[in-house]
Amino acid sequence: MKKRLTIPQIKECKNKMPLACLTAYTFPMAQMLNNHADLILVGDSLGMVLYGYDSTLPVTLEMMCQHGKAVVKGAPDTCVVIDMPFGSYQQSPAHAFKNSAHIMQETGCQAVKLEGGEAMAETIAFLNQRGIPVMGHVGMQPQSMHVNGGFKTAGKTDAARQQILADAKAVEQAGAFALVIEAVPVDLAEEITATIQIPTIGIGASGACDGQILVTEDMLGCQDGNAPKFVKKFANVHIDMKKGVASYVEAVRKRAFPATEHTYQAADRIVKLKTG
Ligand code: KIV
Repeated sequence: MKKRLTIPQIKECKNKMPLACLTAYTFPMAQMLNNHADLILVGDSLGMVLYGYDSTLPVTLEMMCQHGKAVVKGAPDTCVVIDMPFGSYQQSPAHAFKNSAHIMQETGCQAVKLEGGEAMAETIAFLNQRGIPVMGHVGMQPQSMHVNGGFKTAGKTDAARQQILADAKAVEQAGAFALVIEAVPVDLAEEITATIQIPTIGIGASGACDGQILVTEDMLGCQDGNAPKFVKKFANVHIDMKKGVASYVEAVRKRAFPATEHTYQAADRIVKLKTG
């Protein structure tokens, strides 16, 4: 049976085993990933994927706790990391500690993730020194979408590239156990991965990273329509779901569902049915 990787074991995977990470927001999805994924992230992307928001900004601490609890319950053998939502950690290290401790106590997760590089280093060190493992997140930072004018590829100019490299180093120095790198050019992901000693987990950051993460609904093709360029659809679940829904509606209209085997009978009636 698969055993949950501890935070030190995840760190040790650097240069040994590519880490296969995925997101989950619900109990059934967590159950499905439990035997497969090395790490499950309860991402604040749930605001966009499950709730249909335009960004991750409206996601609250309580939403993360509710979904986090369900995922931890569904994936008892997998390391679960929960995203700190916008506004829950930027104010001060002490505020971040209060909120991340709340997430860990409420959900039973193993670590939290927060966005930001040099600007968040003090906070990451504060949490780490007080028993809260932190996964960093640099490159494209969805919570800063308004500052950046949208969800844009990061690190395209020399200056931006130098800043992201400095961010990655600062996050490592602060004690993060792993680093998500989102939507940066291949050679920058390569340079960061070669420079820092903690595993880099790429999303739209090439195979140069030490591991990969995707939003599970994206890679399973749960929704029709375009996914970001970096998503490979490993399945087309929406096709099966649409077929299933259409078959159900047709069966109800034709009174083909429910059939006898889907109904309850009084005890004496069952005996009669069995004996003909
Ligand atoms: O919110 C999220 O799901 C994430 C990952 C996609 C890295 O931050």
